[in-house]
Amino acid sequence: MSLEREAIRILRANDRGGFTIPTAGLYPFQWLWDAGFSALGWMKFDEARAWQEFERLFEGQWANGMLPHIVFHRPEATYFPGPDRWGTRHTPPTSGITQPPVVASFVRMMLEQAEDQTLAQTKARALYPKILAYHRWFKRERDPANTGLTNTFHPWETGADNSPAWDEALARVPVDPTLPPYTRRDTSHVDPSQRPHQAEYDRYLSLLEVYKRCDYDQLRLHRECPFRVVSLIIDCVLHRANRDLAWLSARFGFGDEAEIAGWLEASQGAIEALWDEEAGLYYNYDRVQDAPIRVGTSASFLPLYAGTSSPPRAERLVRTLESWAEQVRYLVPSTDPGHPSYEPQRYWRGPVWAIMNYLIAQGFAEYGYPEAAERIHQDTLKLAELSGFSEYYHPTTGAGLGGGEFSWTAAMALWWEVSPWAH
Ligand code: DGY
Repeated sequence: MSLEREAIRILRANDRGGFTIPTAGLYPFQWLWDAGFSALGWMKFDEARAWQEFERLFEGQWANGMLPHIVFHRPEATYFPGPDRWGTRHTPPTSGITQPPVVASFVRMMLEQAEDQTLAQTKARALYPKILAYHRWFKRERDPANTGLTNTFHPWETGADNSPAWDEALARVPVDPTLPPYTRRDTSHVDPSQRPHQAEYDRYLSLLEVYKRCDYDQLRLHRECPFRVVSLIIDCVLHRANRDLAWLSARFGFGDEAEIAGWLEASQGAIEALWDEEAGLYYNYDRVQDAPIRVGTSASFLPLYAGTSSPPRAERLVRTLESWAEQVRYLVPSTDPGHPSYEPQRYWRGPVWAIMNYLIAQGFAEYGYPEAAERIHQDTLKLAELSGFSEYYHPTTGAGLGGGEFSWTAAMALWWEVSPWAH
């Protein structure tokens, strides 16, 4: 079967009625950034269904604008922590944290490429105020001091749960002595050597209890949450999303461009302050220690996707990518393969992720490095051909890891193959 037909089959098989689960068993609900990538895939063969993905996602939006990272549209027993553990009292039930805010950028891409322009304009215009409310929430509640960067309170929010970037910050989180007992479900679906360690899970769950004790009040979390980092994935995705939100505002005449320009001005300089000249890449930042987190990750390239980087810095990033390419067979490993914490099979500690490859490649292409972008694109396709549409891949052997028949990996084959560079 061709890659394209197989990708369509997977998205259809993971459709649960207007929303796409990432993969059966391991992730049986709708996840925020997964939904964004899945919508791009649907766009290539069913535009109405693609727009519906966002409509179902925004059913989970909170009154304060926050878009949660999971919408539990209907009960499923195969995942932990489910709605009871989160206890957020929302209908439909949701988690209480967010995830990389890809929506505004993907809505713009979908609008620009839609064949059915009437449908696309109606849908994008209707989504706009909801996305604006979400971005205002980020600004108001995650960056109340207007630093230009947002505080992230949980590794799950970054999408890159067990990245070595969070190791020290997470190790400082005390395990809650009153933590209610729990049974992990992830390791019943996936080999434990490809998933986070138990000590990390205890802290993920302890942080969830902090959220609950703070009654999900973000301003209290700024004071009380023991895990406070700046995540390059969140802040670079948000910066680009704000650029695209301003574009949508102008396109539909909503008139919010000046407000959004103020946010962009602050985040432009603040993201660039995360650059490390000696290392030749950008670092995440620990807000508790007030110090950069000196671990190179695939997110270290995302200021290119954000569009904040300068030409000399982009040139350094190409050199950094080349040095990584000498150490692995397939780009882009999620952690610097020369770092002692690199583990090529364990989730975000080394494996290659198709969706990160797409964002990174898009950044390189836009900064005038089509060869780097194409190398990343070709590696992504080779991995899918070799090992199917897995959640992630071993950067040396190319083995498929984590969940199988994975929606966002399949979606990237559809969207990226047909339309390589969206802007
Ligand atoms: C998980 O359960 O592994 C997710 O990454 C949390 O959203």
